[in-house]
Amino acid sequence: MNRAAVEASALIEVRNLLKVYNSGSERVQALADVSLSIRGPGFIGIMGPSGSGKSTLLHLLAGLDRPTAGEILVDGASVHTMTETELTRYRRQRIGIIFQQFNLLGTMTALDNVMLPGVLDGRPDKWLRERATTLLESLGLGGRMKHRPDALSGGEQQRVAIARSLLFEPKVLFADEPTGNLDSTSSRRIWEMLAEMASAHQLTILMVTHEPAAAAHCSRVFILGDGRVTDEIDVGQHDSAWLAARYQQTVDQPH
Ligand SMILES: Nc1ncnc2c1ncn2[C@@H]1O[C@H](COP(=O)(O)OP(=O)(O)OP(=O)(O)O)[C@@H](O)[C@H]1O
Ligand SMILES: [Mg+2]
Repeated sequence: MNRAAVEASALIEVRNLLKVYNSGSERVQALADVSLSIRGPGFIGIMGPSGSGKSTLLHLLAGLDRPTAGEILVDGASVHTMTETELTRYRRQRIGIIFQQFNLLGTMTALDNVMLPGVLDGRPDKWLRERATTLLESLGLGGRMKHRPDALSGGEQQRVAIARSLLFEPKVLFADEPTGNLDSTSSRRIWEMLAEMASAHQLTILMVTHEPAAAAHCSRVFILGDGRVTDEIDVGQHDSAWLAARYQQTVDQPH
């Protein structure tokens, strides 16, 4: 297969990505040279020490910031060449994104929070209501739809955020430490749901995590170190203890 064919068949293709932040007189190279390819669908992890560039990579993939150099192809779209208008549409319609903070509107119910991106996009109310209801039910929140965020647990709030991110049926969901604010029981439930959604909806989920127990739910894990991919682990049937040891081995190795 030639290179063009490889690119066309991958769902996420990153080539020689470089990101330099200039804050005042300081120059920080957050990504030095990242290349990776994900054929999707599936649940994929990104691990790496603090400051290794994980969030930067996710932000660039999600079109929240622009690379200094390099190429990003997501679901056939060339993200690095998009105009601001195209980026706004890409973020709203073609991908989902969730963060450690749930970013829900405190004055709105769970249902209204999930519907909001569709309201902003001018979608018909009936379609939106049905779609949001189905999503909330599939995430175990059928009985919480009229609750406002302050009447939901952290795990429930993150599930509302997941439902909202999937409103437009994206093929790709980016998650930056989605369980960073949750206890271990709620976290496990979120990981199981993400894994289940990836296989049930042919979704590709790219999740940044510090926790081997989270990464153990993934099929593959990319390890970042100093702004580069230093390893790619096939998780298979391995458990979190194996993954933790394997991760430590990679991080400890000079590269
Ligand atoms: N807006 C910014 N301006 C300047 N430097 C930045 C900016 N954002 C990130 N950096 C720097 O880029 C590097 C990578 O940051 P990034 O947030 O991607 O790391 P991370 O792997 O997500 O870390 P963590 O695990 O702590 O979340 C760090 O050295 C960070 O200080
Ligand atoms: Mg981060």
